[in-house]
Amino acid sequence: MNSTKFFFVIIILLIFLVIPPSSLSIALDAITPNQPLRDGDVLLSTTKIFALGFFSPGNSHNRYLGVWYNKIPIQTIVWTANRDNPVIPTAGAGLLAIHGNHGGLVIYGKDQNTPLWSANVTVSSPNNSVIAQLWDTGNLVLLENNGSNARVLWQGFDYPTDTVLPSMKIGLNRRSGLKWFLTSWKSQDDPGSGNFSYEIDPAEFPQFFFYKGRRTKWFRVGTWTGQRLSGVPGFVPNSFRSFVNDKDEIYTMFHVTDSSVFVRAVLDESGIAKRFVWRDHENKWIESSSSPSEWCDYYEQCGPNGNCDPYSNYNFSCLCLPGFEPKSPQDWYLKDGLGGCLRKSGASTCQKGEGFVKVARVKVPDSSGARVNMSLSLKGCEQECMKNCSCMAYASADEREGGKGCVTWYGDLIDTRTYSNVGQDLYVRVDAVTLAQFANGSVISKKARLAISLLSALVFLGLVFLLCWLVRRKSKAWRQRKYMFFMEDRTDLDDQSKINSELQFFDLTTVAAATDNFSVANKLGKGGFGTVYKGVLHNGKEVAVKRLSKNSGQGIEEFKNEVMIIAKLQHRNLVKIIGCCIEDEEKMLIYEYVLNKSLDFFIFGLGLVERRQCLGNR
Ligand SMILES: *[C@@H]1O[C@H](CO)[C@@H](O)[C@H](O)[C@H]1NC(C)=O
Ligand SMILES: *[C@@H]1O[C@H](CO)[C@@H](O)[C@H](O)[C@H]1NC(C)=O
Ligand SMILES: *[C@@H]1O[C@H](CO)[C@@H](O)[C@H](O)[C@H]1NC(C)=O
Ligand SMILES: *[C@@H]1O[C@H](CO)[C@@H](O)[C@H](O)[C@H]1NC(C)=O
Ligand SMILES: *[C@@H]1O[C@H](CO)[C@@H](O)[C@H](O)[C@H]1NC(C)=O
Ligand SMILES: *[C@@H]1O[C@H](CO)[C@@H](O)[C@H](O)[C@H]1NC(C)=O
Ligand SMILES: *[C@@H]1O[C@H](CO)[C@@H](O)[C@H](O)[C@H]1NC(C)=O
Ligand SMILES: *[C@@H]1O[C@H](CO)[C@@H](O)[C@H](O)[C@H]1NC(C)=O
Repeated sequence: MNSTKFFFVIIILLIFLVIPPSSLSIALDAITPNQPLRDGDVLLSTTKIFALGFFSPGNSHNRYLGVWYNKIPIQTIVWTANRDNPVIPTAGAGLLAIHGNHGGLVIYGKDQNTPLWSANVTVSSPNNSVIAQLWDTGNLVLLENNGSNARVLWQGFDYPTDTVLPSMKIGLNRRSGLKWFLTSWKSQDDPGSGNFSYEIDPAEFPQFFFYKGRRTKWFRVGTWTGQRLSGVPGFVPNSFRSFVNDKDEIYTMFHVTDSSVFVRAVLDESGIAKRFVWRDHENKWIESSSSPSEWCDYYEQCGPNGNCDPYSNYNFSCLCLPGFEPKSPQDWYLKDGLGGCLRKSGASTCQKGEGFVKVARVKVPDSSGARVNMSLSLKGCEQECMKNCSCMAYASADEREGGKGCVTWYGDLIDTRTYSNVGQDLYVRVDAVTLAQFANGSVISKKARLAISLLSALVFLGLVFLLCWLVRRKSKAWRQRKYMFFMEDRTDLDDQSKINSELQFFDLTTVAAATDNFSVANKLGKGGFGTVYKGVLHNGKEVAVKRLSKNSGQGIEEFKNEVMIIAKLQHRNLVKIIGCCIEDEEKMLIYEYVLNKSLDFFIFGLGLVERRQCLGNR
């Protein structure tokens, strides 16, 4: 019996040894100079919505002081204090306290003399009491109380990490110079300051940006349109956004219509901001929106004076604004829009007769150098812009009530994009010729253009293949598979051949020699239906050779593809075709090579290069 008692005592002792009393965590409602928070304790907000304490993110063992939702089973960190100075986990390390002398908040690791992190404050009198509280918004607040009045000395919401919560500001305190901005985490395991930030550019027409590596513009969240930020087209259910710009501060903030719904937006380590809503019955976070989300959202995809239009009829989203043309048609053809557009050659915009062309439903250009006058109407805005030769465009500053105020842009127009159903109207200054083109209605509807180009493409290709076939038939016995498609109307063949007597038939060896045996160095582009090579004929003439894929073995299919692609094209004057080559399984079209002359040629090359990956290229 005695031995059993002894054994029992040992067990009790062991339990006390294994679980030291300090790890029995306490839930605090305030931190005072006498009541610090140790690793393991939590500070709860007034109605226990949020909790503050030490945590380890992901697979890391490091300890960080952070705020999370107390009631949500998946630990979701919304704020971190010592993000770049973690507490290295050792026994007794990790303490959040109010500093005895200066009254600020400090975090200590193992060494209780040198803080790892501190919130610097100035207490008005050493006699005043200082406490830290966690508010129900998720804001950690340090308060100074002089007996009759409490004053906020410092607050966590002034130093957001990667998450915006309702009523958190992103902007600038003009009086103190403090910027409210987000910085992404380094990784899921490391809340340290990452590569992306979300902050304000407090220009004359203020706008918000996602930056990569602090200063590279990554995504333009845009300007306040009166209802939303210009780069974020959607309205998010259960929430709305406000914008304040006065002499003291300038910021944007989002609010929830139902405070019992948890909503947060996170700028993640890949530079994408995602908004989440907590669904109680599903017990998970639902992603309700993300930005940037489309290729055109990324900053300046189409270069200066370009317009990124994901709804364009081309297989490439970059277009030029009215009155402009691609700076490098070759890059454009390779689906690289970064070079942007130049004024059409010979077009002057500072003489009589010029005017403005409306580009509808856009995210208006980067307003870094733009000017604003809120007392001007749209008409007055036009006059204001017309007065100054370097004014390139204008728009209403506020889209409410049919448009109020005036923004004018000077110099290149950067980062314009088109939306399908929201967006503002931008009025771009154009030369007299362009203005007349737009005014005369020569810009026919998309459907009509599509129909016309489809028709002309069909006729054109029909002709080409027919003639190739004819030439081929005359020069050699036709041993290959018969293309019934072309063989139906034999009676016309002789007439047709007369029309296109210029069309040459090339044999494979000639084409192979011209293109250096289809060498990679001569390759201009590639796509599902074939490859285009540059070549030089023995008479010195430069040609472009489109070699249709032979592995498909489907001549008719290839042909159909070609027609489909040409149907997508809106340019009227196609590049000159010189001839063709059909030998065994090879089918080739030979065009005149016109560098720097006609965009149409390159467009006729068509969709050869896959769309540039936005992430890979930035
Ligand atoms: C407080 O001041 C110290 C020393 O000036 C500085 O290293 C630290 O970053 C400041 N802390 C915060 C949160 O600004
Ligand atoms: C602080 O309190 C002491 C004692 O009550 C008083 O003598 C002193 O003047 C107070 N200091 C300030 C700055 O109010
Ligand atoms: C406490 O501070 C407020 C404002 O900061 C001031 O009006 C008030 O007189 C102070 N009270 C005492 C007891 O110092
Ligand atoms: C930040 O960017 C640099 C340079 O692009 C890269 O080397 C580094 O890995 C990035 N850091 C993170 C945390 O992604
Ligand atoms: C704005 O326009 C009005 C009307 O033309 C003008 O009187 C005023 O000076 C302008 N303000 C600025 C800042 O240019
Ligand atoms: C036109 O605008 C530019 C850029 O803001 C400015 O530097 C220039 O002085 C203006 N010219 C006139 C004539 O107002
Ligand atoms: C536009 O129409 C006017 C008159 O109808 C004509 O004089 C002008 O040449 C036309 N411009 C273009 C570019 O078609
Ligand atoms: C158009 O682009 C998409 C995506 O880049 C691609 O999947 C598709 O095959 C392209 N179509 C043509 C006709 O090039």
